[in-house]
Amino acid sequence: MNGETDEKLRRLRAVWFENNEVVMIDQRLLPGKVEFFRARNTEDIAHAIKDMVVRGAPAIGITAAWGLALAKKNGEDMEEATRIIGGTRPTAYDLFRAIRFMIANGFSLEAARRYQQEITNRCRKIGEYGNELIPSPAQILTHCNAGALAVTEWGTALAPLRIASQQGKQIFVFVDETRPRLQGARLTAWELQNEGIPYAVIADNAAGHFMHTGQVNLAIVGADRIAANGDFANKIGTYEKAVVAHENGVAFYVAAPASTFDFTISSGEEIPIEERSEDEVLSLGGERLAPEKSRAKNPAFDVTPAKYVSAFITEYGIFKPSELKKLRAMIQKDLFMRED
Ligand code: MRU
Repeated sequence: MNGETDEKLRRLRAVWFENNEVVMIDQRLLPGKVEFFRARNTEDIAHAIKDMVVRGAPAIGITAAWGLALAKKNGEDMEEATRIIGGTRPTAYDLFRAIRFMIANGFSLEAARRYQQEITNRCRKIGEYGNELIPSPAQILTHCNAGALAVTEWGTALAPLRIASQQGKQIFVFVDETRPRLQGARLTAWELQNEGIPYAVIADNAAGHFMHTGQVNLAIVGADRIAANGDFANKIGTYEKAVVAHENGVAFYVAAPASTFDFTISSGEEIPIEERSEDEVLSLGGERLAPEKSRAKNPAFDVTPAKYVSAFITEYGIFKPSELKKLRAMIQKDLFMRED
């Protein structure tokens, strides 16, 4: 590992640009191995996003931004590159936001760098606002991985936890394992362990028990796309966690930067849900679980209605679903995020 790579890993960037390559921590191999995937063209970028070398909505957007800058530098057909990268994963809104940003900024490397830096800075703000919602001590539930691996450096749902922990608050995290890809057990646990934040991995079907028995004070999750009415898509299983939180009076927060809000759609019904391979459900770590002829269904995301959301934690502050019009007006005035 060279010095620069080592430095990036220490700051936990999911993706960066180095020596004319887009470099990613290969998240398929964590926590067992820390290896890097190097993309040299659009085909490599598309493979990395589809196969989940890199994943998490903001990180997908950042990778797309770097990928388009790389394609431009390579002299590739940009219409084709945009089409291929835009066709990788349908649910994460950040992907489409990043593509539009790169088109508007001539696909330059400088634009990709700026995009990454902006999103990173915004996640730090999410951490600061979200920290205000965390008492000490606090027992916090999270689902999937919405940490540095899903953004770079701070994460969304994990950003408030990082800051709370740095400030000496006594926090404990219940980490949903998050079948079928185990982003919780593999990635969130790895991040929390590296930060020295106490946690326990729990089976996905155990979260209800911990909420019902009063062991969870609040839940914080990320989002892949948030509709104008506050319905939001996130990793499959989020919906049932939100319902159980509501039933048990546990506050349920969604942490996301403006790049994840899709005000062009009025409700969650319009969010496209990615269907992934049956193998992800039928096998685990390459080992077949179910009988040979079994079929599986594997939606990667579900939609949680806004009524289950206590508040959205954003870089502009904290908003109840009923206050999203105010957020929308703020985003429209934000030169980096506005899309008209
Ligand atoms: O399929 P993934 O791993 O890309 O799904 C990731 C999630 O659902 C995250 O919670 C979401 O993208 C927010 S990441 C800051």
